[in-house]
This record gives sequence, C-alpha cells and structure tokens, in this order.
Amino acid sequence: MNKNPCGFLGNLGLCLLQELPATLCYSKILTMGHEIPNKETIFQFKCVVKKFLRDNKDNDKLIGVHCTHGLNRTGYLVCRYLIDVEGMEPNAAIELFNKSRGHPIERTNYIQDLQERARKK
Ligand SMILES: *[C@@H]1O[C@H](CO)[C@@H](O)[C@H](O)[C@H]1NC(C)=O
Ligand SMILES: *[C@@H]1O[C@H](CO)[C@@H](O)[C@H](O)[C@H]1NC(C)=O
Repeated sequence: MNKNPCGFLGNLGLCLLQELPATLCYSKILTMGHEIPNKETIFQFKCVVKKFLRDNKDNDKLIGVHCTHGLNRTGYLVCRYLIDVEGMEPNAAIELFNKSRGHPIERTNYIQDLQERARKK
C-alpha cells in the first residue's frame, strides 16, 4: 500500500499517488477549511516538517505546503511552525508569510489565533 519512499503517511487515492514522481515525499494532512486546524493537525504538521528538516539537513531539498489555494490554512500552519518551533513573534511570522507568499493570509480568525500564541505560551 504505502509506496511512499519516505514513509510519510500517504492518505492519497492511488491514482493520484501514481502521478507523483517517486522521489517526491507526499504527506497529506486533513484539515477543514474555515476552522482553526485542531491540535492533532498542528502536531502532525510539525512532526512532518521536523522530520523532513532532520532528514534533509545536508541537502537543498525543499518542502512545499499547499491547501486549496495555499493561503489561509497553509499560512496558518506555516506560521504556527515558525511561532511554536522556531520561536518567532506571531506578527513577524505572519509578515514573513505575507511577503514570501506574495499574498497575505486573509482569514481573520486565523490571524487572531496566531497573534494570541505569544500570550498563550
Ligand atoms: C498580513 O496580511 C493580512 C491581510 O492583509 C493583514 O491583516 C495582516 O496585518 C498582515 N500581517 C502582517 C504582520 O503583515
Ligand atoms: C481566505 O480567507 C478569507 C477570509 O475568510 C476569505 O475571504 C478568502 O476567500 C480565503 N481565501 C482563499 C484563497 O481561500
């Protein structure tokens, strides 16, 4: 079943899996639109990213993160990683995402939740 060379959980339909190059590690993390991603989702995301960075610290491989538009959910999870794992200030993380993505996170409940991270820590 799991043909993924990196052993990441592959929740993909088989037809889609076959279209991916074998060298590409793909990890699908389910999360609903509109809602703040739940704890398990955030944990899963951090684990996958940490593992990838650990396994690839000696090469220049990149991680691509995407959701339907690669904006709200993607932005939230990328910022959560930067805040929780890298210790970045919430607004610095959001600004970095806004700039790097070339399009700002728009969902205000996501932005507010990210900004509250500093206080919740
Ligand atoms: C990021 O973009 C959103 C949407 O335009 C905006 O509300 C927010 O203030 C921006 N945040 C930063 C820190 O640049
Ligand atoms: C992101 O969230 C905003 C605010 O809820 C929404 O208007 C926008 O359509 C969403 N963008 C995408 C690309 O899903």
